[in-house]
Amino acid sequence: MKPISVDAQRLQQQIDALAAISEAPPPVVTRVLFSEADLRARTFIKNLCGQLALSLRDDAIGNLFARWPGTDLKLPPIATGSHIDAIPNAGRYDGVVGVLGALEAFRALQQSGFRPRHSLELIVFTAEEPTRFGIGCLGSRLISGALAPEKAAALRDRDDQTLSDWRKRAGLETLDLNSVRLPKDCYAGFVELHIEQGPLLEKEHIPIGVVEKIAAPSALRVQLTGVGGHAGAVLMPERHDALLAGAEIALAVEQAALTSGNPDTVATTGVFRIEPGAVNSVPCRAWLEIDLRDTQLTTRDAALQRVEKAVPEICRRRGVDFQSERLNVDAPAICDPQLIDTLVQVCGHLDLKVKKMISRAYHDSLFMAQICPATMIFIPCRGGVSHRPDEYSSPEQIRDGILVLAHALAKLAS
Ligand code: GLV
Ligand code: MN
Ligand code: MN
Repeated sequence: MKPISVDAQRLQQQIDALAAISEAPPPVVTRVLFSEADLRARTFIKNLCGQLALSLRDDAIGNLFARWPGTDLKLPPIATGSHIDAIPNAGRYDGVVGVLGALEAFRALQQSGFRPRHSLELIVFTAEEPTRFGIGCLGSRLISGALAPEKAAALRDRDDQTLSDWRKRAGLETLDLNSVRLPKDCYAGFVELHIEQGPLLEKEHIPIGVVEKIAAPSALRVQLTGVGGHAGAVLMPERHDALLAGAEIALAVEQAALTSGNPDTVATTGVFRIEPGAVNSVPCRAWLEIDLRDTQLTTRDAALQRVEKAVPEICRRRGVDFQSERLNVDAPAICDPQLIDTLVQVCGHLDLKVKKMISRAYHDSLFMAQICPATMIFIPCRGGVSHRPDEYSSPEQIRDGILVLAHALAKLAS
């Protein structure tokens, strides 16, 4: 076998080409689930998979599986992958590094003459980002069984379009959502390459992070119905302003995190829409989506309950009707110690300093860890910035991550 050699420049060209497939002009990347840009990006990835002679399968939610068959087809495959959907106003690296990076790892392994014994499989997960339906990791939730197919089918976006409507547009309607779930241990291991989305690796000048635990996410949607009216005519004591109830709820969300007793509790009201949205009209409706996470379940759950208690109190006081719904409430993931050791050994072999760390962001690995041994490789990103157009990792930082991934895949698939 020849040395494994990663072509960082070719990869950068692919990253840039994929970033150009966006719903918004550069440098912004926006690729919401099943938008035209998302569908075009999927075709872009499938073409690259074709160049590597991988065999392709789409499942009913649009997860893409690209397999390099091993020499022993009785063995469970080793999987890697991430996502290519992007939140509004995103950058070009979140998720993409784990997809294009995996393909570059496969290419480098093929060119080195490596033949895997276990099949190697790239998974491009559907809707890791929650933008369309408010729930993240849609594809990997269904794979792991954490989300029931009937619950998924009932999801509605802000325009009241269902998941079925969107699956039709994506040409997936003939496939059965019940078939997405995969059995436990169908993979011998799963390793996801991702940018850190935090500042530690850069600050400590460490090229590689290996993830030991993924923080526990949760999300709520709150719909508020107040009473609208003329901004000049309705006197202040008569008002039932949906926006103001929402504003108080957003402040209660902040307080719940600030007073949880754990600095790792973070809470964000990232969606806040109102109707009718006219300057001279009292807001009659508001929609909030709230993201609340923590490394510890006890403080996460207590903060979530505080928010859920605050909503009716605020709404009662303001005479505003509400509906509050838990979109997801997930446990943290504990990554596989043996896989972690393998990655640390690979880093030693490559002479790359490594740090074991917690992921505060969630990833499809959170759900893959429920069905097989899983962990993640992190690479530094500039200033720890993510979910912004100025997200950046250098070609050299990405190359190091791919080298670790390629060597780990070779070890695991041998
Ligand atoms: C993933 O994008 C997250 O919000 O953690
Ligand atoms: Mn993201
Ligand atoms: Mn991501």
